[in-house]
Amino acid sequence: MTAGRSLYQALSDYAASDFYPCHMPGHKRNPAGGEMADYHKIDITEIEGFDNLHRAEGILKEAQNRANRLYGADETFFLINGGSVGVLASVMASAGPMDEILIARNCHKSIYHAAILQGLIVRYYYPKMISEYDICDGVSAKDIGAALDTYPEVKAVVITSPTYEGILSDIPGIAAVVHGRGKILIVDETHGSHFGLSPHLPEGAIAGGADLVIHSLHKTLPSMTQTALLHVNGGRVDREKLRGYLSMLQSSSPSYVLMASMDSCMKFLEERGQERFAAMRGHYESFCEKTALLEHIHIGKMTNVSQNRHELKGWDIGKIVISVKGMNMTGKELGDILRDTYHLEMEMATDTYVLAIMTLMDEAEGWQRLADALCEIDGRIEESTKETGSISEKKVLGRQLKSRMPLARAFHSDWETIPLLKAAGRIAAGFINLYPPGSPIVAPGEILDEAVIRQIEECRRTGLNIQGVSEKGEIVAVAL
Ligand SMILES: Cc1ncc(COP(=O)(O)O)c(C=O)c1O
Repeated sequence: MTAGRSLYQALSDYAASDFYPCHMPGHKRNPAGGEMADYHKIDITEIEGFDNLHRAEGILKEAQNRANRLYGADETFFLINGGSVGVLASVMASAGPMDEILIARNCHKSIYHAAILQGLIVRYYYPKMISEYDICDGVSAKDIGAALDTYPEVKAVVITSPTYEGILSDIPGIAAVVHGRGKILIVDETHGSHFGLSPHLPEGAIAGGADLVIHSLHKTLPSMTQTALLHVNGGRVDREKLRGYLSMLQSSSPSYVLMASMDSCMKFLEERGQERFAAMRGHYESFCEKTALLEHIHIGKMTNVSQNRHELKGWDIGKIVISVKGMNMTGKELGDILRDTYHLEMEMATDTYVLAIMTLMDEAEGWQRLADALCEIDGRIEESTKETGSISEKKVLGRQLKSRMPLARAFHSDWETIPLLKAAGRIAAGFINLYPPGSPIVAPGEILDEAVIRQIEECRRTGLNIQGVSEKGEIVAVAL
């Protein structure tokens, strides 16, 4: 790749050349190859001049370097299996079989999966709640320090910042505590790929000193689904091991279309990022001005949260938490109205809020339509006269269940299928997740109790998406 020439341009030039493919993929770039033949034109394999992701030294190395220059980590890897594979490789390169890791309980399921695959002993940190919005608070550096003092054998700490709802933790503070005890800090920043790219945005975990940082580009940047980056800093993580795990966990035929999408995204950010992020900040501020007039709907903002009671260090302007807590409408109902009447599809809805994701690619019109719809709906809402006990995701996740067996052992034990309603006292063999975002309410090895069963049933009744409970209301438990 010549300087400035993107992977996409190289693939397009190749598609226009007279080179004939006597190799994979089987579509042969033949325009007669069905409805999607147009997309096949730039879909190639590791032919001469196009490098190999698992031993990148040419065009793909240059593309990864472009991403690396933008983010400023020591080294950056392209991922073609989402942030999930970055999490798996990071955790597995940081802790070996029977090693201990400390994870924030609201972590994504991929972190738990890594623990099962590697046979790790998991210690949990339970984030507190921001009760104003029923969402998880940031992670406390002090509490992480205390947990590491209780579990001195822990090799690595994994936290999520920003959370799905946009809550940022104090990464420099947490890094100091973790590194002070000689441990590795992995930050799941899959929702914050835009961080550190503009003075209008938070600095992010790379600048904050994390050893491993995972970015799902597809979540908040103009890049195709499944594209992600893994960044490494410093010498605490064995890079060879990390490369080894990436090579094992990723396809041996990585998609050039996905890799070109990542490279084009980096080029776009280099060329247009500053301008678009500045515009995004402007749109956000106008949105806040308009929605400041709402009487019943509340928009989640740093200024609405008591700073001295909470740990959060910021709130991503791309995550709009629209709360109807205490009102005579649920978040799900609000989500339905926004979809059915205003054709605005939300990222997710719980019983007390909906979540809208906004990015640098939203134009003024999108922000305006959302603000206008909320202003109209606000007039139809009233405060609820009933006591509305929240069953929000984070209240459920905040419950500490007793653990009877290590995660991996429970998962690998003999299973039996039992009704959830009769599961009190039984050891879970599988996960029960609330999706999105996919953090476990119950993890393998934990004992189900009456309270958690009631909460899961309540989530199902409210129409929230619970994974791990079948339509018949059954779960898997360790066989008696
Ligand atoms: C917090 C968090 N971490 C990791 C992931 C996995 O990322 P990906 O979907 O890019 O594999 C997700 C996906 O939703 C997530 O929400």
